[in-house]
Amino acid sequence: MDTDIVAEDQAILDDIALRLSDFGRERGNLIPILQMIQQRHAYLSPGSIKMVAEYLEIPTCEVYGVATFYNQFRFHPPGKHHIKVCLGTACHVKGGDIILENFERKLGIKDGETTPDKEFSMERVACVGCCALAPVVVVDEDVNGHVAPSKVEGIVLGFQIEKERQEREKQENESG
Ligand code: FES
Repeated sequence: MDTDIVAEDQAILDDIALRLSDFGRERGNLIPILQMIQQRHAYLSPGSIKMVAEYLEIPTCEVYGVATFYNQFRFHPPGKHHIKVCLGTACHVKGGDIILENFERKLGIKDGETTPDKEFSMERVACVGCCALAPVVVVDEDVNGHVAPSKVEGIVLGFQIEKERQEREKQENESG
């Protein structure tokens, strides 16, 4: 698994190295380069940030500084399942922050991060437009309304059970 992840990271860096030559080495190209990486790979890895800094001959911390200033950039790969916990006013009032904490505890990651196995990523978001259902959690494309903090465990468990089922099915098929 770890070797897969390393190989994947290397593939991303190889791809970025190829694309960088489309850009001049002037500092003004920093944001367009970061946007290109985000668009192609959905996040900016530490390795890609270092590569951009070397290409433009500017300090890595400057690249980080610019990238963190704009919230369009992500620093972790998106998980297979992406969880958005609404913390708009209506959801916050109804305990959205407790739901966020429960997801953080259950998954062992913080807002904006991805689990090491890349199964789950999570972020807090502003109002998703269905305040009558507060508190709201959007998992992949599904809107979950009136989410009690105790439901968090069940949401995560549902995906884990489904993953185990698929793996079992795959093993059975492989063994004929
Ligand atoms: S505040 Fe959460 S949906 Fe509006």
